[in-house]
Amino acid sequence: MNSLLKITDLHVSVGETPILRGVTMEIRQGEIHALMGPNGSGKSTLAYALAGHPNYTVTNGSIEIDGVNVTEMEADERARLGLFLAFQYPVVIPGVKVADFLRHAVSNVRNPERKEGEGLIGMREFRKEIRDRMTELGMDHEFARRYLNEGFSGGEKKRMEILQLAMLQPRFAILDETDSGLDSDAVRVVSEGLAKLSGPQMGVLIITHHERLLEFNPPQFTHVMLGGRIVETGDSSLAHELHANGYADVRARHPQAAAENIQAEAATA
Ligand SMILES: Nc1ncnc2c1ncn2[C@@H]1O[C@H](COP(=O)(O)OP(=O)(O)OP(=O)(O)O)[C@@H](O)[C@H]1O
Ligand SMILES: [Mg+2]
Repeated sequence: MNSLLKITDLHVSVGETPILRGVTMEIRQGEIHALMGPNGSGKSTLAYALAGHPNYTVTNGSIEIDGVNVTEMEADERARLGLFLAFQYPVVIPGVKVADFLRHAVSNVRNPERKEGEGLIGMREFRKEIRDRMTELGMDHEFARRYLNEGFSGGEKKRMEILQLAMLQPRFAILDETDSGLDSDAVRVVSEGLAKLSGPQMGVLIITHHERLLEFNPPQFTHVMLGGRIVETGDSSLAHELHANGYADVRARHPQAAAENIQAEAATA
């Protein structure tokens, strides 16, 4: 059976400020969804809420994986259920090497009952696996010896995400891509890497302003967020239209949401 990530009428606040105002979306294993929308519309907020970030409070609605309500679960429990999130601004974890981080993350996901300090995947087996994946992705093996995200360039952070995806093989991957600062090589790495990894076993939500990413990974569904709501859903032609024409038409079709988005932008400025 295909797994289902189901988001129902999700309202999310940061502090006292409501940001998401009722988001409903269903992502099945094997599907690619694109989430687009102007700056400040709430895309990253949705990603953080899905991840279970403590600063993002769900005030209404639910997130379910195969009927299991994960809305109140900790981030690591969600990961064990097969949810993976790559952030627009990944954290630096000083003193933790890429390989050690991945060995723990992979062990947690494959062996959900494991207690800290027990049941780590065997070193030899793990080394072989990480080397194989890095070779497939065209990555320098030295990378695994570096400290996680410390001094990583934008492109290296993206490679790290793709390596994580390859190792964890989540059922659902949410990729919040920052578009600024990525050169075309980095965009290519992510696009091709994702195309290689996604398939019938993975449901993907791509948050992006980049056309390239969607060219390599054509979405069956494109959602447009405005003012904390999904105001339109279409197929990949909607993504093309937005890339070509921007959001003026969408704003005109949804004046209420557009007004709320403008307030959000003003609050940020
Ligand atoms: N931690 C936070 N503290 C204060 N405001 C926040 C926080 N997170 C999000 N917001 C506000 O919520 C609104 C939506 O922000 P969000 O980052 O989700 O937008 P986005 O659609 O990802 O935009 P972009 O395309 O620029 O990445 C903005 O007004 C933002 O300032
Ligand atoms: Mg964002």
